[in-house]
This record gives sequence, C-alpha cells and structure tokens, in this order.
Amino acid sequence: GKVAVLMGGRSAEREVSLMSGNGVLAALRARGVDAHAFDPAERRLDELAREGFDRCFIALHGRFGEDGTVQGALELLGIPYTGPGVMASSVAMDKLMTKRIWLAEGLPTPAWRQVHSAEETLAAFEALGAPMIVKPVREGSTIGLTKVMTAEQCEAAYALASSQDPMVMCEQFIDGDEVTCPVLGTDAQARALPVIRIVAPDGNYDYQNKYFTDDTKYLVPCGLPAGEEEAIQAIVLKAYRTLGCRGWARADVMIDRRTRRPWLLEINTSPGMTGHSLVPMSARATGLSYEDLCVQVLAGAAL
Ligand code: DAL
Ligand code: MG
Repeated sequence: GKVAVLMGGRSAEREVSLMSGNGVLAALRARGVDAHAFDPAERRLDELAREGFDRCFIALHGRFGEDGTVQGALELLGIPYTGPGVMASSVAMDKLMTKRIWLAEGLPTPAWRQVHSAEETLAAFEALGAPMIVKPVREGSTIGLTKVMTAEQCEAAYALASSQDPMVMCEQFIDGDEVTCPVLGTDAQARALPVIRIVAPDGNYDYQNKYFTDDTKYLVPCGLPAGEEEAIQAIVLKAYRTLGCRGWARADVMIDRRTRRPWLLEINTSPGMTGHSLVPMSARATGLSYEDLCVQVLAGAAL
C-alpha cells in the first residue's frame, strides 16, 4: 500500500527533518515502496486517511512530530506509524520528564535544575559548577544550547534557550567522550547497535558541525574497550525500555573521562536520517545499508 513519509513540520528542526525525510523517501522508493512525501506544515493529517495511505514513516524532528502529537493523530486515524508511541514520544521530547523517570529506575543522568530566569540560571551555575549546559527542555539538534563556562554567560544562555522554549534546564557537563547508541526493534527483539564516538572540532558538536561541516569525526567501531561499549549498550537498552520505546530510537551518552562511567543525556525517538546522521552509520557497521534500515524501520510500523 501507500506509505507517507512525514517530514518538515513546524519545529525549529524543520530543515533537518526535510533532509531526513528526503533521504528516507528516496531509499524506500529505491526498494520499490510506493512512498510519498507529506509535510504536516502544509497539509492536514486527516488527508492521509482520505488519500488512502496505510502506513507512515515519521521523519519529523522536534515538537509537533517527535513529541506524541502526530502519533496521537495517527492513532485516531488508525494509520500505523514508525517509532515509539504517544507516551514514549511525549516523555522523550521532555528532557526533564525523561531524567526523572531514568533516575527513578536507577539509570545515570547528569545533575540538573529547571530554571525560569537568568537569576535562577546563575544560581544553578553556582550549584552545579562549570562547565554547565543551558538548553531548552524540548528541543533538538543543539538548537538554543550554550556551554556556560563563567557566571557572566548565564544571562545570554538563558535568553537564548528561552527564545526556543519557555521551559529551560541547566545540566552538569560531563567532561569526556561523547557517544551515541541506536536501538532497533520492539520488546524482546529490541537490540542496541554499535556505539558511535563523536569527535567534533574543539568538542563542539553543534548544529553546524552536526549537519553542514565535514570536520566532525564519527568513530564506529568506537574504539572504547569492549567492556565499556557493552556497558553503554546495556544502559541504553534499559533506558529505551524504561520509557516504553518501540521501533527505534537513539540515546546520547557522555562517558566521564576519569571514572569512565556512562551518563545518559536524552533519547531521540525520531533519530536523524540525514547524510551526516548517526543511526545509518551505526547500522552500516552491522551490514545494514541505509535502504535496509529504512525498510526495517518501516516494517516495525505499528499502532
Ligand atoms: N534531533 C536530531 C534529528 C537527532 O537526534 O538526530
Ligand atoms: Mg535530541
């Protein structure tokens, strides 16, 4: 039947989503799937039912797409979709809710505070120490994020984050290796893929270095001792299951340089599928091509 690749949308990650969506669209078509682009910023979702689409591949990132809203609409329309369901999607979009749940399950996540003003950001800096990450609670691709080194930076960091989302958080920065680990599959079939270690210029894996420069190095195999990689995969799989994810997702993790302990930052329930994105790189290391990956994720579409 007809498959809609949902892309674009109206979040700050629209541009990234269009890159992901067009990649997925081309891959599915190359495999003979009757796939069509569908941009929820331009069209109403109920058109999906009227036009006879029987599955959706969600390539939307950020709010109004990765956050349970579109998933809820598709549940009402009765159209199966890729990736986690309504609850897991909405919890994962909210980095604070995610951290509360992980903490309650004994999963390691860096210390944080929610802040509502520049003054509270400064107080958080005094409590958490330097460096400190200030970021929107419900945003992606490092949009609105600042690594704060001095008290003087707190005001601008709060202003930048709150321009993207009224909910702003401060998080202790874990100095060490930046890694990411995808999970593919549902319930007993869910498995962690190889870990990727990200080495960005000056440790600055920002929007530009994520999508537009070729200066970031992606190491897969990650080059960490086998025991460390397995430990990361184990906590990522537990983090995925704890939030009730299904289909696929990708968790971002920092490894403390000194203790070598992994710390979970967040889980992305509609991971990037651009030419620079991470899940395809990790999948390829297991022999799964970009096209295979798209077909496999689509096969997991559910209600
Ligand atoms: N938020 C971007 C798309 C990612 O995590 O890949
Ligand atoms: Mg993210």
